[in-house]
Amino acid sequence: MSESKRITTRSLMDMKRRGTRIAALTAYDAVMANLFDSAGIDLLLVGDSVANVVQGRDTTLPVTLDEIIYHTRAVTRGVLRAMVVADMPFMSYQVRVDEAFRNAGRIMKETDAGAVKLEGGEEHAEAVHRMTAVGIPVMGHLGLQPQSIHQYGGYRPRGTTEAEAEKILSDARILEQAGAFSIVLEKIPAELARKVTESLEIPTIGIGAGPHCDGQILVSTDMLGLTLEFQPRFVRHYESFAERATEAARRYAVDIREGTFPNESESY
Ligand code: KIV
Repeated sequence: MSESKRITTRSLMDMKRRGTRIAALTAYDAVMANLFDSAGIDLLLVGDSVANVVQGRDTTLPVTLDEIIYHTRAVTRGVLRAMVVADMPFMSYQVRVDEAFRNAGRIMKETDAGAVKLEGGEEHAEAVHRMTAVGIPVMGHLGLQPQSIHQYGGYRPRGTTEAEAEKILSDARILEQAGAFSIVLEKIPAELARKVTESLEIPTIGIGAGPHCDGQILVSTDMLGLTLEFQPRFVRHYESFAERATEAARRYAVDIREGTFPNESESY
């Protein structure tokens, strides 16, 4: 597919202007990335949720920059059209602006991603500004920020008090001014997400933020019904692959034990 068909930050802005909703999913490997890309998903996020859904961790905090680079390389290899965004891991951008800048540069140089994403608002405005000034597109992430889970002590919705809502709106404007091309809004009231979306030129991508965002994202393993223990109300299951995969593995084991796999046509 030609470069002009690739989704870019500009295509996403155009989609917002035209009122075309952006479809996004997380992806962690080339196989799934290729399937989602073929299905017409516009944006694939190599989320630090890789910690929860691939590495079996309880939080996103342990993911390293090298691990995100590894998974992002795999995802970009599987994609022709979708924009690939790589999450900046916890402590890869919080210590100093020049470190954040260098780490974002590493992701872009080593993975072929189209952009990076980081959590937080005003406190990262300078880093966002420096990255975008040299051509590194940055996606913001406001509302529930899983990297701050220990500070908040849980995954409750954010922006439910007036002060929190004002802070989210103000952070969104600051990120836009700093040069961010899009903002993920996680687990905030639908009306607040509408207000943020209407007050920005750049697209918002919601997860648990209601229907008024310019696009939606889900963690792919949740949407596919692979992670049955995690069932927040904002996840819609489009498949129940956990049951189907377990059943397929069970039948495979039975065939091996009964000596019916492999058969003659499956042998050389
Ligand atoms: O890491 C992730 O999967 C994310 C999504 C929840 C947006 O940040």
